[in-house]
Amino acid sequence: MAILRNKKITFLLILMCLIVVSPIANAQLGGLGGGLGGLGMLLGGLTNIFNIQGLLMCSVTGTVSTNNATAVPPFPNAGIVFQCTGQNVSSTTTNANGVFSIPTIGLPFSPSTLLSSGCRLVVTTPLTACNVSLPAAGLLMAPLSLVGTAAGDGLNIFSLVPGAFGLVG
Ligand SMILES: *[C@@H]1O[C@H](CO)[C@@H](O)[C@H](O)[C@H]1NC(C)=O
Ligand SMILES: *[C@@H]1O[C@H](CO)[C@@H](O)[C@H](O)[C@H]1NC(C)=O
Ligand SMILES: *[C@@H]1O[C@H](CO)[C@@H](O)[C@H](O)[C@H]1NC(C)=O
Repeated sequence: MAILRNKKITFLLILMCLIVVSPIANAQLGGLGGGLGGLGMLLGGLTNIFNIQGLLMCSVTGTVSTNNATAVPPFPNAGIVFQCTGQNVSSTTTNANGVFSIPTIGLPFSPSTLLSSGCRLVVTTPLTACNVSLPAAGLLMAPLSLVGTAAGDGLNIFSLVPGAFGLVG
């Protein structure tokens, strides 16, 4: 009898603890959930991060020459637009050494969409800006290719580089 009563008391105590503690736990989880939601929004609701980097050279192929006879200089201060399915997604400018990286925070694309022919880099600065002997018409464009993936902390990081640039238009 005494044991039964103790069990009842113990049960009631546990029940009371659950009732009292659960709103606190819910509130804490709610706050954590809100924080994660904010991070998710910052990353466009995706855990995919795209790291697009490249080197732009001052030539009609935009790429490094394999022939050392003509040393091709870099293409500095060139505007680059990242387009997917005809839409401008983000843009950047090459630095003094022709190096660029494309900001992709919040990019609403899957890796497969990004790698499909719908996405490309367009150099908006004419080639004459770095060498007046080069064609004034047309823009350098390049597709993207995947060179590496890394995963950790719930994030997938995809490293992409431009393929061969070509003069279009
Ligand atoms: C091109 O230049 C690099 C660095 O100067 C050198 O290592 C390489 O052997 C050269 N290639 C040719 C084909 O001359
Ligand atoms: C994309 O950007 C390029 C270069 O700034 C511009 O010429 C073009 O009109 C833009 N296209 C759209 C759809 O906004
Ligand atoms: C400029 O372009 C011309 C034509 O392609 C080339 O012969 C010349 O070497 C280039 N100049 C420089 C500084 O790259």
